[in-house]
Amino acid sequence: MRKPNLRDARKRTKEEVKIISDAYIIPDGIESMGKGKKYYLRTYGCQMNLRDSETIRAILEDLGYEKEEDYLKADMVLLNTCAIRENAHNKVFGMLGRFKNLKKQKPNLIIGLCGCMPQEEVVIDEIINKYPWLDFVFGTHNIHALPQILLEYITQKQLTIDVFSNEGNIYENIPVKRDSKYKAWINIMYGCDKFCTYCIVPYTRGKQRSRKKEDIINEIKALVKDNYQEVTLLGQNVNAYGKDKAGNNYYLENLLQDISQTGINRVRFITSHPWDFTDDLIRVIKENKNIMPHLHFPVQSGSNKILKLMGRRYTNEDYINLYKKIKKEIPNMVITTDIIVGFPNETKEDFDKTIDLVNQCQFDGAFTFIYSKREGTPAAKIKDTVTTEEKRNRLRELNKLINKYMLESNKRLVFKTVEVLIEGFSENNKELLMGYTNTFKLVNIKGHKDNIGKIVLVKITEAKTWSLNGEIIDEKEQD
Ligand code: SAH
Ligand code: SF4
Ligand code: F3S
Repeated sequence: MRKPNLRDARKRTKEEVKIISDAYIIPDGIESMGKGKKYYLRTYGCQMNLRDSETIRAILEDLGYEKEEDYLKADMVLLNTCAIRENAHNKVFGMLGRFKNLKKQKPNLIIGLCGCMPQEEVVIDEIINKYPWLDFVFGTHNIHALPQILLEYITQKQLTIDVFSNEGNIYENIPVKRDSKYKAWINIMYGCDKFCTYCIVPYTRGKQRSRKKEDIINEIKALVKDNYQEVTLLGQNVNAYGKDKAGNNYYLENLLQDISQTGINRVRFITSHPWDFTDDLIRVIKENKNIMPHLHFPVQSGSNKILKLMGRRYTNEDYINLYKKIKKEIPNMVITTDIIVGFPNETKEDFDKTIDLVNQCQFDGAFTFIYSKREGTPAAKIKDTVTTEEKRNRLRELNKLINKYMLESNKRLVFKTVEVLIEGFSENNKELLMGYTNTFKLVNIKGHKDNIGKIVLVKITEAKTWSLNGEIIDEKEQD
């Protein structure tokens, strides 16, 4: 059994990152473990986790397992978890509780847990003490070793825990089974070194490490051959790409420039931190039509006092100046953000500064959260005096304002023609198609299903807060 620990998770040395290309091996005795069996995989959290799940899926299918959407019918259930906030935890522990009864009915059921939650020491202790019906647990550093972990489990038939904290390597040549045939997530870097005081990610994902340019470009070129239309570059701070390598001078702007020449129709990237956002980056986005005009640009707070306590390393004024510069250079840029309310000791005045900032920026959308204390992070030590009720009220007030600007931003698109990548059928109404605009707005669309997988012109007919309605412009009209 290997267990994570906070001391190693916190460590950052100058040790060079290893790129390992031969780590994925299916050992003897397990090649057909999943033959005739089904797996249920549920993913929580961010796009990194969604991308990791595409690898987990490929590995399980390599072992013969087939995908199952209903966990009651599965032979293996696996939760790929997120540790960012308390409620993400609670959801997962709730599911694990349900699996206990299921295992009573189906003693051969195999139950697994992976992702960011098991990277926390406290979670592993809780699992050992309270959830002994689990079968196997692994972390974010050893997804490629899933076959070995399963072999250990079937050999020993007892709770197998293989989670460790380290700075992390880069694994190439690991299989992937993508959820979409048209758009793909591409990891360009792993981990995070920013250590914002509230955030658990640097402890669950290791140090910031950028993939080699060639590996990224080759992955994208192969996707272009397979008719993929869109790639989203993933990293906790994509604009710090390359800054972890000594002597390197190839950064996100260079990578984006090179990716834009691969023949891919759409390039997105998340998430951008205000800290490393350069003029060169703005220029490259502006000059290349296939780099999409959408920026997810988390501000977290409008109060300089709180930003300092958060360790964000910019001020309200820095953020607003950068925001205005980007909008001036690229007027059609849609900018969304993340905001935390109720950071320890956030006063009404601090919160009002966040409201002021939102009024100045008029974001096109935002994810808003109530601060959640994460064990082991510096902010967890700050004694908090703000009541939960006050935090909820602030969130409500903020959301009302965000929604107002979101609807206004969407309304500006009514009767306009926009490009949409049609991804499939709408979730709520299977008669309609759905897709995203260049600026990452969700549109439900009237049109023929032959358009799925294509980028088409859509006329927006109606705006709501969270989505748009539209109609595909007749192909003859498009010509
Ligand atoms: N790397 C990205 C964010 C990744 S986490 C960035 O720095 O912008 C996604 C969002 O979750 C963060 O932007 C933040 O708003 C929120 N978040 C992170 N830790 C949190 C915590 N402890 N409580 C509440 N929200 C948190
Ligand atoms: Fe967390 Fe900050 Fe890193 Fe984002 S930049 S993942 S908020 S530590
Ligand atoms: Fe959650 Fe881990 Fe992502 S904590 S937000 S799944 S990096």
